[in-house]
Amino acid sequence: MNFHTRKWVKPEDLNPNGTLFGGSLLRWIDEEAAIYAICQLDNQRVVTKFMSEINFVSSARQGDIIELGMTATHFGRTSITLRCEVRNKITRKKILTVERMVFVNLDEAGNPAPHGREQIRYADEAYERYRQTVTGVAEPAAEREAAH
Ligand SMILES: CC(C)(COP(=O)(O)OP(=O)(O)OC[C@H]1O[C@@H](n2cnc3c(N)ncnc32)[C@H](O)[C@@H]1OP(=O)(O)O)[C@@H](O)C(=O)NCCC(=O)NCCS
Repeated sequence: MNFHTRKWVKPEDLNPNGTLFGGSLLRWIDEEAAIYAICQLDNQRVVTKFMSEINFVSSARQGDIIELGMTATHFGRTSITLRCEVRNKITRKKILTVERMVFVNLDEAGNPAPHGREQIRYADEAYERYRQTVTGVAEPAAEREAAH
């Protein structure tokens, strides 16, 4: 599992108890998972379909740094299933896991469409394909090598 995203817990992310507000964390998770799904499926029209039970086992306080990890656990015909783990870098405790988050690949009419993917793309390849999809411009091989 790759932990690509870190978040710094700020005053606006807190609940009245002074700890990380669950709604803020769920928004970060949904966004991170959506980015992961669109890069894996190479399609911006991907929507959240299902999230399994969420059990907050510990929390975070203002100033803590948390990190979000994602991995694909299943490639369906039109869907992709992800697993998410969030941990606190300061307390070194796990905050939660979401065992199943299902995203559905859509066509231009908003209907589920086969994505044709069967296995995980490494992050660099996934982001590069996504960049090409968004910009419509392929990176020349020389520039790509210079950037790495
Ligand atoms: C996403 C949506 C188009 C899917 O429509 P649908 O009629 O359920 O589509 P299907 O029955 O063809 O299922 C599509 C895929 O989702 C999976 N799926 C459907 N219901 C599911 C559920 N409850 N749990 C897990 N997977 C589910 C199916 O197994 C299928 O995957 P597969 O092709 O890999 O086997 C429709 O439900 C929708 O628009 N939902 C709202 C999405 C949304 O607004 N999300 C929040 C904002 S991003």
